[in-house]
Amino acid sequence: MFPITKTSRFRAVCSADFFWKILAGSARVEIGRNYCRALVRDRAITWHTGLGELSFEFTHERKYSRFQSLSPRAHFWSMKKTSNVSPARSVAFDLVRGVLARRHALDEALAAHDGFRRLPGRDRGFARLISATVLRRCGQIDALIDACLEKPLPRQADAVRDIMRLAVAELVFLGVQAHAAVDSAVTQVESRGHGKFKGLVNAVLRRISREGTDRLSSLPDRLNFPEWMIAGWVDGFGEAVADQIASASLKEPPLDISVTADTAEWAKKLDAEILPTGSLRRGFDGLITELPGFEEGAWWVQDAAAAIPARLLGDVSGLDVFDICAAPGGKTAQLAALGARVTAVDRSEKRLRRLMRNIERLGLSASTVTADATEWQPPVLADAILLDPPCTSTGTIRRHPDILHLKSRNDIAKLSDLQSKLLSGAAKMVKPGGTLIYCTCSMQREECEDVVARFLDTASSFQRKAITPEDVGGLGDLVTSNGDLRTLPFHLADKGGLDGFYAARLVRS
Ligand SMILES: C[S@@+](CC[C@H](N)C(=O)[O-])C[C@H]1O[C@@H](n2cnc3c(N)ncnc32)[C@H](O)[C@@H]1O
Repeated sequence: MFPITKTSRFRAVCSADFFWKILAGSARVEIGRNYCRALVRDRAITWHTGLGELSFEFTHERKYSRFQSLSPRAHFWSMKKTSNVSPARSVAFDLVRGVLARRHALDEALAAHDGFRRLPGRDRGFARLISATVLRRCGQIDALIDACLEKPLPRQADAVRDIMRLAVAELVFLGVQAHAAVDSAVTQVESRGHGKFKGLVNAVLRRISREGTDRLSSLPDRLNFPEWMIAGWVDGFGEAVADQIASASLKEPPLDISVTADTAEWAKKLDAEILPTGSLRRGFDGLITELPGFEEGAWWVQDAAAAIPARLLGDVSGLDVFDICAAPGGKTAQLAALGARVTAVDRSEKRLRRLMRNIERLGLSASTVTADATEWQPPVLADAILLDPPCTSTGTIRRHPDILHLKSRNDIAKLSDLQSKLLSGAAKMVKPGGTLIYCTCSMQREECEDVVARFLDTASSFQRKAITPEDVGGLGDLVTSNGDLRTLPFHLADKGGLDGFYAARLVRS
């Protein structure tokens, strides 16, 4: 049963099916438009009626006068029929399968999932949270599951493993009550045609609900990362920092916001903190479109670290700036808001259309060029260039945990080759005396320092112009001894961390 204490008012999540069983014993029910309230013995239970997966609030209720005498049975019959599998967990299963089995990016899987969009806000947050937790913690979750299996699950049962992974994420990392997570998983295993695994799933999950938290203490965070990724961090930063990066990469990030103008005013309106680097930060797990200022195009979402490279160009007002590899346009928006005449270059027409939608929503302007930037030759040279080429994005695992599963060691070689070509191409587009910022959201040396070092070895007309702590809000930890920017997920840890980002500032003589 739910652990209802005498004084508590709390929320719990369980399947509608299970809740039906509770209701079977209740006598008095109040039914609202999108909530129901039932009196079970001396406790009031409120639940919000999306379909199937519901949040319940348990309170002591003294005033019974608002309750009508209704039988819950008739009202909930249809709910029982349609809600054998809770929608949030069912969607979470699809999202995890989309990434692990079909190798789609999580953001694409979310955008393409109709059921996800139809979920009530709270369920949407829950579906996203459990799927992201599975993707982040998959190594530890699998170790917990495997320790409870006498023989490995057959290959054709990988959907069963995914259902168990979701339940373990709930039990061990999200603190969901055992009966809610376990019952849902068992129901889901059956409804997806794997009924013969019901007993096994039930036994494994019950054991993990009892022992999982203790066992977790002997399973290091590193287990969740591919070996090549950790090796790259050890190589670049040493063992201790690699561990810090791993642990910080598993945390839920805060919401970071860049504004077109009036930073202090928007900080107040959004109840956000202004970071030393100039971004706004607040916690949030709802729909960003519902926050003040979104509709009127006053701001956009951009990790605080991703907002640093454009600022390294200094005062760009009135300058011609090329944003190379520009879409979806976070940095284009920054440059345009700072008064630059921006040309956004990207080889993807579709992504550039999205960039323009973003720029228009913000009331800014930029021109676009659809081209392969390794070959594109501009009609006139730019005063400044920002190059943000594709990379393994290992600095953004906090926001995109699918990276742990979708990127491979082979990507590094392919991408660093492309990055070098793009840097050589961009170098030809800038005027003498102009500045070129090379940046990536990777934490792999091969895509960052090595690309710049190779470039500077051959391009004698370019020199590094060292980035200083003053360029980054006085945060000296973000600047390397070479004078490059290097943010890591544990930087600004007390404020919620930063994505991993690298930037070098190069000047053409
Ligand atoms: C890391 S994303 C850029 C993010 C963007 N700067 C921002 O702040 O929103 C990399 C982009 O490079 C583009 N790209 C990849 N190869 C390219 C090439 N050869 N020429 C131009 N764009 C390219 C991709 O289409 C993608 O939009």
